[in-house]
Parts: sequence; structure tokens; C-alpha cells
Amino acid sequence: MDHVENEMLTKVAPGTAAGETLRKYWLPVGLSSEVNSEAPRLVRWLGEDLLLFRDEFGRVGLTEPTCPHRGASLDYGWIEAGGIRCCYHGWVFDVNGRCLEQPGEPPGSNFIDKITLKAYPARELGGMIWAYMGSGQPPVLPNYHFLARDDGERQFSGYVRECNYMQQLENALDPVHATILHGRAVHGLPAAPEWMETPDFNVVASETMAYYVARRKGPEPGTEWHREVAYVPPIMVVHHGGSLPGDPLREMVDVAWRMPIDDFTTRTFTLKFFPHGSAKRGNEEKQARPKPPPLMRGTRKQYDMATINGQDNAAQESQGAIVDRSREHLAYSDRGVIQVRKLWLSTIEKSQRGEALPNLIRQEAQNRWVHVDVVERLVKSGEIRDHVPSVIYVE
Ligand code: FES
Ligand SMILES: [Fe+2]
Repeated sequence: MDHVENEMLTKVAPGTAAGETLRKYWLPVGLSSEVNSEAPRLVRWLGEDLLLFRDEFGRVGLTEPTCPHRGASLDYGWIEAGGIRCCYHGWVFDVNGRCLEQPGEPPGSNFIDKITLKAYPARELGGMIWAYMGSGQPPVLPNYHFLARDDGERQFSGYVRECNYMQQLENALDPVHATILHGRAVHGLPAAPEWMETPDFNVVASETMAYYVARRKGPEPGTEWHREVAYVPPIMVVHHGGSLPGDPLREMVDVAWRMPIDDFTTRTFTLKFFPHGSAKRGNEEKQARPKPPPLMRGTRKQYDMATINGQDNAAQESQGAIVDRSREHLAYSDRGVIQVRKLWLSTIEKSQRGEALPNLIRQEAQNRWVHVDVVERLVKSGEIRDHVPSVIYVE
């Protein structure tokens, strides 16, 4: 890959190829639980400094952080009077950026109508805050069933990693790293059994996702772990698509979004949704496993090589804030990584040509429930043969 393509994939500021493509989608910009009407928060997304706040009516706003009057930061403002009041001279702006008050102006002044604060459409769904940072008419906010349903429990977690979002999306379709990076026995403790074996895996790219299918030996003879993992543009990774209401098998959902803070920093939003009656797999296994003491390694920056997060941090951050892809040597085992790049690059090129983009919903009628049909399950060997992962718009 040359420098031009590397830039195209990785730069996210306004005006960049990937940045403008990302801005055509609804993107996660926070959790509902992080934003209250007490105080606004400064945030940074896609290289833009922004203000996230909740007004007295409970509505969320994502706006420019700088007061258009004389530039004070609205981070010190007060949430009142139907919006946020700048601390300096008291101008008030609502979540849509409309100016509601200018206390110092004479009665009858229409100056208030000439002033707006730049604001992006923001919506809440299932405990997440989504924003449309593009221009023009936003698409439909995807109604993922695991965000919209109330017949289960949602658990959010996440982390900020100091490297470009592409490094983290590529990691999703790199099953070999799991065996090596996460499979090493530290302090004499065994690694998770399903990771002990380097899997044989097939990689497939469709119009809407790139995925691998791996099969590893199961715990009993005649069983296997059937594992599908998908990258779903623009920034979603799906480990378990889970079950829909009414499915006989109740299965958890496990998804993540790799949201660029800027070119060099990424916040991962992780969501697990457990439909009532589903097994909380993973959590219990993890808790049952003894927690090893820290194993700090590294000269310039230290990471705990005894934790999965520390291991992934060490590998991905040490690639560099933006890895120089012109210097790497891609191998047979990197075919998942290659498909992630190809799919996202082709999406960026479609965006530049003004063509329809994958996973962008324009019709409200299509949006009853969005399901990402990706399966991970312990099955009888060969039981799942012909399953094709896909994004499904449930009627
Ligand atoms: S700088 Fe904000 S009201 Fe004057
Ligand atoms: Fe990992």
C-alpha cells in the first residue's frame, strides 16, 4: 500500500477522503449516562473539538464549543433558559444551535436572528448518543435491534487507544493474533481454551461487510467452535450478532464501534446485549479465570502484558499512531486485514463518486429492526456449513 492510499484510509478531519465518508453516517459520540443537565462536556470527534450537552428538557446537543459572540468556551456555560448560556455575556443557544437570548442587546434588536452556533443533529438510542456530522439531509439512524429492544440487558464498556482507528478495525479480522498475542500463558496460567489453536479461516467480503469464518476444535470430541467475525462499514465490528425476539435460541449480542477521536486516537464503544434467558457467556468464564498479577513490559511505554487490553494496546499502539503501511509485508494470514482495507477503500471511493454507500439507510420503512447476522457458537462438527453472514433489515 502506498502513502496516498494510507492517507486516504486513515485521515478523518473535514475535507479528507475517509473523514467525508464517515460524515455521511450516523456515528456514536457518547453514552447517554455520560451527559447530564448539570454541565456540558468538551469532546473531540473526527478531529473536531465539540461540545456535548443535555438541556433541561433532556435533549442532547452536539455543537461547536466556541461562543460566536467573542469566542469564550461554552464549556464554562450554564444549562438553562432552554439551552446553554455562555458564561461571558450570557448568550443562550439551544441544541439546534439557535440563539435564544442576548441579554446585553437593546429591546427590539433582531441581531439574535443573525447568530447561530454550528450544531450537528444528535439522537439517543438504547443508551448511546449518535450524531450526524455531515451536511445535508441525514440518513435514517439505524434501528439496531440490540439498541431498540427492551427484552434484555445492555452492558456498555470501552476504552481509548492512542492509535488510528484503522489499526483497530484491521485487528478484528486478524484471528492469528488472538492465538499468539492473547494465547501466551503468562505466570503459568492457561489461556482461554478456544484460543489455543491457530485457526484455519476463510475470509469473504460482500457489499456490506468483510468477515472471516474460523473453526476450532471444541471441548468434546465431535464438537467445534464456529466463529464468524465481521467488519461492518463504516466502523462497526461484530463478534456475536445474537438472536432476535422469537428466535428459539437466545443468544447475546457483542458489537463494538471504533470511533476516531482524531487521526491518532480512537474510542471504542463496546456493547453486549443479553436477551432475557440468554447465557452471559464470556463474563462468567472471565470471572472464573484467576486474574494474573500485572506483567509490565516495554522501554518507552509500559503495558500490562498479562491482560488482553494491555496486549492489544502494546501491539496496536506500538505500530505507531498511524502505521506506515508502505513498509509492511502482508502475508497469507493477513487476508482478513486486506479485505477490511479493500472494503473501506471501496466505500470511500463510492462516496467520492457520489454513489450509494453500504449500510446507509434512506428509507424509514427499511428500518424496523437492523440485525447483523453473525454467528459464534459451539456446535457439532460441521453443523454450520452454509451460513452467510449479512446485514438483515427485519420486516
Ligand atoms: S463570548 Fe459568549 S456571550 Fe460573549
Ligand atoms: Fe486482540
